[in-house]
Amino acid sequence: MDCLPELMRFNNGSPVTCVRDWEERRKEILEILEKEAYGRVPDLPGDVKGEILPKRPGIESMPCCSGHAELLRISISFTAELGPFSFPLYLFRPLKKEKAPLILLLNFRGGAYDQYYPVEEIIDHGFALGIICYEDITKDDGDFTDGLAGLYTRRDDGTDWGKLAMWGFAARCAMNYLETLPFIDADNVCIAGHSRLGKAALTAAAMDRRFRFTASNDSGSMGASLERGKHGNAETVEAITRTFPYWFCDNLRKYAGRPEELPFDQHFLLALVAPGYLMVGSASGDLWADPVNEEECCRAVSPVWELYGMAGYRGGEGPCETDGNYAEGSVAYHKRDGIHFLGRGDWLCYMDFMEKHLK
Ligand code: GCU
Repeated sequence: MDCLPELMRFNNGSPVTCVRDWEERRKEILEILEKEAYGRVPDLPGDVKGEILPKRPGIESMPCCSGHAELLRISISFTAELGPFSFPLYLFRPLKKEKAPLILLLNFRGGAYDQYYPVEEIIDHGFALGIICYEDITKDDGDFTDGLAGLYTRRDDGTDWGKLAMWGFAARCAMNYLETLPFIDADNVCIAGHSRLGKAALTAAAMDRRFRFTASNDSGSMGASLERGKHGNAETVEAITRTFPYWFCDNLRKYAGRPEELPFDQHFLLALVAPGYLMVGSASGDLWADPVNEEECCRAVSPVWELYGMAGYRGGEGPCETDGNYAEGSVAYHKRDGIHFLGRGDWLCYMDFMEKHLK
């Protein structure tokens, strides 16, 4: 797409020509995204702990995945600015692996099982699966006194963090604990999310390169989809800030109806994941998320991976066909047939890609 803000130029106009330049440029980009879109994210707490909780009767105590996995319920806790905070995390670990790569999913619901993850299939591929329910962090509404939101001071200067950044932050806190577990391969952790949580996963990955993989599924507006040049009736900054203003910092609302004035576009967010491996998934029937712009965003970030000597996005000439899967580069894109959903077809794409690139 033409007219995107320049990724590979510093704010002062000088070009980014090497990795060292990029490492500086990414700080500028992070500053723009925090100030204008997602809000300022506090430093990670220094005292994150995890505690494996006793199994409760019922599903948690039953054998799972044909006996090939163990299900752990863990309490993650730390000291936030204004007091202590804790939240639950479910972890399925494959018993046949001494150290398993991990997919950490920000999910809509808590509990062990859900329609958004075929857990036995994930275990059979040799991955551990961690699940954080987003509303265990803070409710999906404009109440900034709830949960983690209430434990950080707000400045009311337009840059206070929104809820997407909070959900992403929680995943990063969990990572502090998960990376210490002897049966987790901390070099091969993927942060994943669907839809609003695909957006949240991207904010986490952009700020934390311990996640070697990122999977953003149907994340759409303010996720993996470019905000300029939306197709059809796809969601815009105007629509998203009207319905979900609390996902973002207040400054984003300045750009409602004026996407061409945004000092960034979503390729800025995706680019921060480099040199980690990025996977973007769309669904053919999810026009609200604008699949064409999700793929365009993948194209737009290639130069950053190339600076690292890696292949960027290796897509076809035109827009990806339904059931297309371009996974040759370091940025992978697929378009699954069907509706807005995180389905088995998506998981297979993500796991295949990860298997190719495990360290
Ligand atoms: C709404 C919203 C999207 C979001 C989606 C979801 O459709 O407009 O931006 O991705 O909800 O989270 O399911």
